[in-house]
Amino acid sequence: MDILVTGGAGYIGSHMCKYLSRNGYRPIVLDNLSRGHQQAVKWGPFFQGNISDGELLDHIFTSYDIKAVMHFAGYISVGESVELPGLYYSNNVAETIGLLNKVVEHNVQNFIFSSSAAIFGEPIQDALTETHPAKPINPYGKGKLMVEHIINDYDYAHGLNAVCLRYFNAAGADPEGEIGEVHQPETHLVPLILQTALGIRKEIVVFGDDYPTKDGTCIRDYIHINDLAQAHLRALERLLQGRGSEAFNLGNGHGYSVNEVIDVARRVTRKSIAVRVGERRDGDAAVLISSSEKAIRELWWEPQYADLESIVETAWNWHRKHPNGFGD
Ligand code: UFG
Repeated sequence: MDILVTGGAGYIGSHMCKYLSRNGYRPIVLDNLSRGHQQAVKWGPFFQGNISDGELLDHIFTSYDIKAVMHFAGYISVGESVELPGLYYSNNVAETIGLLNKVVEHNVQNFIFSSSAAIFGEPIQDALTETHPAKPINPYGKGKLMVEHIINDYDYAHGLNAVCLRYFNAAGADPEGEIGEVHQPETHLVPLILQTALGIRKEIVVFGDDYPTKDGTCIRDYIHINDLAQAHLRALERLLQGRGSEAFNLGNGHGYSVNEVIDVARRVTRKSIAVRVGERRDGDAAVLISSSEKAIRELWWEPQYADLESIVETAWNWHRKHPNGFGD
């Protein structure tokens, strides 16, 4: 069965392609390579182009019997979105509308959207459930929430069945070490820490230690990339069974501070990792922890790498063998 994977050359998209392929599906990748890596596309046909390129989408939808679209393509950096909101709204919102128009035109009925915990803003409860108020505090999160609303309207108007998956902090790498997390420039905590362990960076800068948390650094809920992929597969199966639109939060229900992540990385890598405390980063919430109850209950989601050690171990396995990312 063919599944269109936008952003399939990116970190989460490429892991999804491997997971789909291992489970009997064929990923058809659409990626403009503005931030993805062609070397990460290994499990199906690849088309280089924008997600709103109507002619290219017509070609893909008429050449393959696409049963569902998994939409990963998008910019992902909270800090960058604060500095360049236009870039985020153009790429993550406007381009997605172009894609959605072609999806309904070609009568593809199933859509899975990479949403984000960033749609919630500052939490008012400990573990965020799906019904937590959505009040995003940065353009990245606002754009993701806009797309969720737009998808709901397409469901109402065109019968598009969609699952929105709100990721907390995706981390880790393919346990077989074939692909991993590579961003240019890198902004995410786990790869930056591991690059420091490798000596590629001299220190990791902690963005603020005066947050209202136990050690003053921000708390996040880290989720292994393959556990994310498993949740997508379950969401896909749910849609293919004809069940309607839904949204799920995806995290492990456990928060780690930035300092705790660094400590785990020191244990896993057995390297000293130099730390400097810097300014807060615009757009950062103090604490983001997911309730995973709905995903476990309704998607039968079974995380395999729920502890931070195994998440960091798989990431370290990738980084130490590929210190230059896909360029080595
Ligand atoms: N951090 C540092 N130093 C760094 C990089 C990050 O202290 O050099 C801190 C951040 O301030 C934050 C934490 O580490 O507190 C994690 O930061 P990331 O940049 O790795 O991830 P974010 O939490 O900003 O964002 C990620 C995804 C988003 C998603 C969000 C939801 O990139 O798509 O998780 O939690 F919305």
